[in-house]
Amino acid sequence: MYSEQVLDHFRHPRNVGYFEDAEGAAQIGDPSCGDYLFFFIRVRDQHITAARFLCRGCPAAIACASMTTELVTGRHVDDAWEITEEVIEDALGGLPEEKRHCSNLGAAALRVALMDWATRPSDGEAPDGQEDNDG
Ligand code: FES
Repeated sequence: MYSEQVLDHFRHPRNVGYFEDAEGAAQIGDPSCGDYLFFFIRVRDQHITAARFLCRGCPAAIACASMTTELVTGRHVDDAWEITEEVIEDALGGLPEEKRHCSNLGAAALRVALMDWATRPSDGEAPDGQEDNDG
């Protein structure tokens, strides 16, 4: 039923945990099944340097969240938007038809975390391509 990759990420989920001081955070719930996912990213110089997750869900949801952390780590924030449900599912070798919606949790949580990061007040770093002209 599940691919080897799904079973591996379910049995040995990567990057479980959280960052209290994450640059971006998300809480996603799937009303259809009551599962949820908390997702956290660290961002330095426009790159996601680390990701963590906490998940209550089925094996597919946990595997998708785990894979999402692996796919996103090291990416430029602009490229991270390209990690869609399909990308996550493909990286896991596919999902059973009735479990395909589970990849929504990981992809949606990543998008919300990216939006959270993008809309936070600047920590003093000038955005790329802009000078800090405060004088
Ligand atoms: Fe709810 Fe998989 S069944 S996320």
